[in-house]
Amino acid sequence: MSSINYSERIPNNVDLASDRTLQRALEQWQPNFLQWWGDMGPEGSHGYDVYLRTAISVDPKGWAQFGYVKMPDYRWGIFLNPAEEGRRIHFGDHLGEPVWQSVPGEHRANLRRIIVTQGDTEPASVEQQRHLGMTAPSMYDLRNLFQVNVEEGRHLWAMVYLLHRYFGRDGREEAEALLERRSGDADNPRILGAFNERTPDWLSFFMFTYFTDRDGKFQLCALAESGFDPLARTTRFMLTEEAHHMFVGESGVSRVIQRTCEVMNQLRTDDPEKIRAAGVIDPPTIQRYLNFHFSVTIDLFGADQSSNAATFYSTGLKGRFEEGKRTDDHILKGDTYKVLEVRDGALVEKEVPMLNALNEVLRDDFIKDSVGGVSRWNKVIEKAGLPFRLQVPHKAFNRRIGSLSGVRVSPEGQVVSEAQWRENEDKWLPSAEDREFVASLMGRVVEPGKFANWIAPPVIGINRQPIDFEYVRLN
Ligand SMILES: [Fe+2]
Ligand SMILES: [Fe+2]
Repeated sequence: MSSINYSERIPNNVDLASDRTLQRALEQWQPNFLQWWGDMGPEGSHGYDVYLRTAISVDPKGWAQFGYVKMPDYRWGIFLNPAEEGRRIHFGDHLGEPVWQSVPGEHRANLRRIIVTQGDTEPASVEQQRHLGMTAPSMYDLRNLFQVNVEEGRHLWAMVYLLHRYFGRDGREEAEALLERRSGDADNPRILGAFNERTPDWLSFFMFTYFTDRDGKFQLCALAESGFDPLARTTRFMLTEEAHHMFVGESGVSRVIQRTCEVMNQLRTDDPEKIRAAGVIDPPTIQRYLNFHFSVTIDLFGADQSSNAATFYSTGLKGRFEEGKRTDDHILKGDTYKVLEVRDGALVEKEVPMLNALNEVLRDDFIKDSVGGVSRWNKVIEKAGLPFRLQVPHKAFNRRIGSLSGVRVSPEGQVVSEAQWRENEDKWLPSAEDREFVASLMGRVVEPGKFANWIAPPVIGINRQPIDFEYVRLN
């Protein structure tokens, strides 16, 4: 077996060079990871030189190193945010106690489950996106896709580090299993629903990175509060990368909208057929894609009432979004929260113990955050002088998890019958025909500075490079 030069091949700030046990575990795992990347990473990309950002340390300068890299040679690293002197658990039953530097026996199973569930999403999204490079709308976008992919690979390393370092043999087994499950596989799927959906085209990709990577942000923010300090420090560093993924999504959708508006103004039409005939994506289709990705993403937060969520909080494993900025008692024992349920065919609010509703609390924080980008998209439309607006669907729309999974609800929040749902489904969610149309626009554009017809160029390039920079050398 070839040995690994740790400081060179795996940039890290966890003193890998002097941790023999961890070295051995990673030495066994790394070839399997590379095999997985070869099989399931971006299709046809292994010989490309890609202008990527690599994290080589946690200080602000160190994680913005740019240069051409072949992706299989990317320096996947292990980084924890610097330790906070005297950090204490700041929520739940252990409030005020020093944070844990090792895994408390009684929380071991839950912590492992949290880490595995987070870890599983990272390779899943790489698998979901693996064909997109073949239809990239530009070299700039191709590079951004690959940047997201290698960073999700690094996030997998981050979770595998925790499993190897703190969970012994079962941690190593879980780390192997992370390379064995496959997105969308009937027999061995990824753990969470949205990570088994396809990402077949670039509009899906941009919606995914806007909404679903934002779910990643909220989960990571909640874990960054954890009383298990290595998890808190690892996830804090992952958040710096997540911001870029959401930027790719927000700016991507924004450029799609901008191009559509340009064509609508040129042709003076809002007729979807005419807009489509001009080779750009019509607003109703954009809205349906938005409806789909928003609804499958908010399912990721889990059931609206969950005793696991209460346990994870009370035991100090997983906090709330911005736990430290909240002014309540951080124990939440007597507190309540409003969740939705269906009574006599209508949605009504019901007060439940807040501890059991923490999935819903995080989901509501996510919704508030994601609405912001949608209003920025609407600004683009407003600036173009057009009257249509995009909006996020009602939280009860198209849900598969929790008490709302049992009802049909329109994007506006009206409970509807099964027959009404079927009648309108193609107006509310992307139809087979919509997907076919969007797929028909996807064709590879890789001449530097050129962009597919359905998307506007970005305002600026990456790392102050010009827009027509050769971001990927296809060799
Ligand atoms: Fe990630
Ligand atoms: Fe991400």
